[in-house]
Amino acid sequence: MKCLCTLVVLTVVVSCQATSKPRRGRGSMWWGIAKAGEPNNLAPMSPGVLYMDPAVHATLRRKQRRLARENPGALAAVAKGASMAVAECQHQFKNRRWNCSTRNFLRGKNLFGKIVDKGCRETAFIYAITSAGVTHAVARACAEGSIESCSCDYSHVGAAPHRARAAAASNVRVWKWGGCSDNIGFGFRFSREFVDTGERGKTVREKMNLHNNEAGRAHVQTEMRQECKCHGMSGSCTVKTCWMRLPSFRSVGDSLKDRFDGASRVQARGGELEAPAQRNDAAPRREPRRDRYRFQLRPSNKEHKAPGVKDLVYVDPSPGFCERNPRLGIAGTHGRACNDSSLGVDGCDLMCCGRGYRTDTMFVYERCNCTFLWCCEVKCKRCHTEKVVHTCL
Ligand SMILES: *[C@@H]1O[C@H](CO)[C@@H](O)[C@H](O)[C@H]1NC(C)=O
Ligand SMILES: *[C@@H]1O[C@H](CO)[C@@H](O)[C@H](O)[C@H]1NC(C)=O
Ligand SMILES: *[C@@H]1O[C@H](CO)[C@@H](O)[C@H](O)[C@H]1NC(C)=O
Repeated sequence: MKCLCTLVVLTVVVSCQATSKPRRGRGSMWWGIAKAGEPNNLAPMSPGVLYMDPAVHATLRRKQRRLARENPGALAAVAKGASMAVAECQHQFKNRRWNCSTRNFLRGKNLFGKIVDKGCRETAFIYAITSAGVTHAVARACAEGSIESCSCDYSHVGAAPHRARAAAASNVRVWKWGGCSDNIGFGFRFSREFVDTGERGKTVREKMNLHNNEAGRAHVQTEMRQECKCHGMSGSCTVKTCWMRLPSFRSVGDSLKDRFDGASRVQARGGELEAPAQRNDAAPRREPRRDRYRFQLRPSNKEHKAPGVKDLVYVDPSPGFCERNPRLGIAGTHGRACNDSSLGVDGCDLMCCGRGYRTDTMFVYERCNCTFLWCCEVKCKRCHTEKVVHTCL
């Protein structure tokens, strides 16, 4: 059995190379790590040690494996960030034709399927939310002490000494920093290194990926907020400890979804289309890394303003998601649930693309009228309720 497993892994690696499609950029394979937490792929060997299915590990690029080695604990955070991103994407899109479903990602395929071969809005969201997920999870893991190479961010300690002096003079409340902040600096840098690996920024599509990855990080960074705790005699708050806390990942998802709705279609500066990257294999030229992020995408419509750092950008129009299309990895909306009283995208008219829908009455059994009995038991009744469900034809 062991031999067979090794054999499978080797096949995966070979077929990855044989079928690698640079068209979507090369930074999309690591998403599969979102599945690392699932029972078959993750076996706790000892606390804090992540054992990962070699087939999942094989989808990582060389640099990503190096980052994992150099930052013990980071890979578990990346896996957590990726699965948070998948869950958030599916939450944000659950009532839409495209619902962010994932698929078997091994053998050279990626987790979200062929849709990412197209540089459309949905793809833009996927890149942004996964990049945000890694930023968020790594920044938090630092503060929790689960990555060896980083810790809480204490840089805010003593950030406002003048304020404290002024306070002492004028009897205003004294306050100071001092708490353990989520380490957004480390999370941001780590996400750039890990997530953007493989995006060289040479084609329009690679620039799109880089822009959206950066947008995801920017949303996490700018939504950081201050939390404080008062100390002092009977809550007098003469001393205050404050720290910077990450936003909830739900609020990052909400704001990225807003940017999805208002995403900008772009073309590269000069309007060049995906020119084959000029490469001189004999002498690989390394550009300074900061140059990778120094580009400006132009809106396709000259009347629109240029996209900002937090905007999502795309280059291709979205395909219709109504009918099944295996070539584009689209499941279609046959059999999807819809809401017959909504005029929105979850409404039966839009969701079912005018094909009509079926209405069924279902009986569901639920726990109800639960009471808490001291101590510690919850007693519930079993109720059955009727539920009307609509399903697209
Ligand atoms: C998405 O929709 C498909 C049908 O088109 C369904 O099979 C799948 O379970 C849905 N996935 C999620 C995550 O809602
Ligand atoms: C269906 O849509 C209506 C109108 O938008 C909304 O009030 C209702 O909560 C929706 N029902 C479900 C089950 O989502
Ligand atoms: C639940 O409790 C309420 C009030 O105690 C009662 O009126 C109702 O009939 C109960 N429902 C069921 C299904 O037992």
